[in-house]
Amino acid sequence: MSEISVIVLAAGFGTRMKSKKAKVLFELCGEPMLVHILKKAYEISDDVSVVLSYQLDEIKKVVLKHFANTKIYKQDVERFPGTAGALRDVLFNSNKTLIICGDMPLVKTNELIRLTSATADVALGVFEAKNPFGYGRVITKNGEIQKIVEEKDATSEEKLVKSANTGCYCFKSEVLKEILPKISNQNSQNEYYLTDSIKLAKDMGLKCHAVMVDEDNFMGINDKFALSVAEGIMQNEIKENLMKQGVLMRLPKSIYIDSRAKFQGECELQENVSIIGECVIKNSIIKSSSVIEDSVVENSDIGPLAHVRPNCVVKDTHIGNFVELKKANLTGVKAGHLSYLGDCEIGSGTNVGCGTITCNYDGKAKYKTIIGKNVFIGSDSQLVAPVKIEDDVLIAAGSTVTMDAKSGSLVISRVKQVNKDGFYYKFFGDKNVTK
Ligand code: UD1
Ligand code: MG
Repeated sequence: MSEISVIVLAAGFGTRMKSKKAKVLFELCGEPMLVHILKKAYEISDDVSVVLSYQLDEIKKVVLKHFANTKIYKQDVERFPGTAGALRDVLFNSNKTLIICGDMPLVKTNELIRLTSATADVALGVFEAKNPFGYGRVITKNGEIQKIVEEKDATSEEKLVKSANTGCYCFKSEVLKEILPKISNQNSQNEYYLTDSIKLAKDMGLKCHAVMVDEDNFMGINDKFALSVAEGIMQNEIKENLMKQGVLMRLPKSIYIDSRAKFQGECELQENVSIIGECVIKNSIIKSSSVIEDSVVENSDIGPLAHVRPNCVVKDTHIGNFVELKKANLTGVKAGHLSYLGDCEIGSGTNVGCGTITCNYDGKAKYKTIIGKNVFIGSDSQLVAPVKIEDDVLIAAGSTVTMDAKSGSLVISRVKQVNKDGFYYKFFGDKNVTK
């Protein structure tokens, strides 16, 4: 029998999110809130279960993609709605059971450990809420917990209580097994509330202990406003950690960084930068208002106003303003201005002139452009893929390149220029000359 198991409750409808998407799949800093919670749960135990019902298949897929060993239970929400109804069919095989709600993605492992190491029969996470509206209120008498009253069932006096139920509990499993069948649905919502377990435990003469935790770490996300507040808190944590790790950030409040992004060496992020997805940024500077998505950037400077779309590897490279990259592998390249470089490989020493475009899509399929080393691409050139340019090629400005080019060659594809003397005056007449 394992010492402790963790159960995450995620079967609710999430009505207050006002969305077709399941609440626990809403993302904070790039990952679904349930995934953030499961990461913490697995730091506590290998025995983790999730209770689902609404959108079970979609949520199950996400859970098992990240944590294949997670046990999935289905709640009978028709017959047994509510947070205690969620536990009806769960098998308790460990000494202790830690219960976490699926809408508290900011939970911290050290606080969960404090809950699991309490010696009481029931340890309840409690915080002093600045604004307790919506939370279950923890009613105490002479310093002892008596019961939890939900907002909808609370008297006006109880609503003044600021001690809030986190929705996170650690039970001795034997105790939980005994209490669950005793919970009724006699309340304003006709649901089986897990919160009622506290009063039942007290009535049985058992010990209930409040473990005080930080409100920011245990806030429950019930609507999209709370989601934005929680994401703000998570962003601040991510950026604070990175700055302490040595990443320089200008106006960090304006910067967005995905929770999966990794930084190595000495990096600088200027204002308004977004780092999205699983990026690795090493010894690089990302200038104002640039966006990097699911890419690797190493020893390079990017932007301002550049867009590195997914699956790029950019090394020892200078990318200037209004350059968009997608699935591009660049090493030792200069692309200073106004370019689209998609589905391409470009070798070191190559200069990509202003206005260069890889024409990678013909309306049906995507094709690759391969450009070798030390190529000089004149401004306003288009490379119609599939096309291969070998090393040491000079492409004249304004060329539309449709054929492969051999090493050492000049590529020029332009309409020959014609100058007709006096044509202007013949066409507009002398009077049209600006006075
Ligand atoms: C719950 C607590 C409240 C606490 C707050 C903390 C109850 C009755 N209330 O309220 O005391 O202060 O969390 O954030 O427990 N769920 C199920 N099955 C259900 C209903 C809910 O699995 O039938 C899951 C939800 O998916 C969610 C979690 O339980 O992840 C909490 O449900 P939610 O509706 O958010 O409860 P709150 O009203 O926030
Ligand atoms: Mg909630």
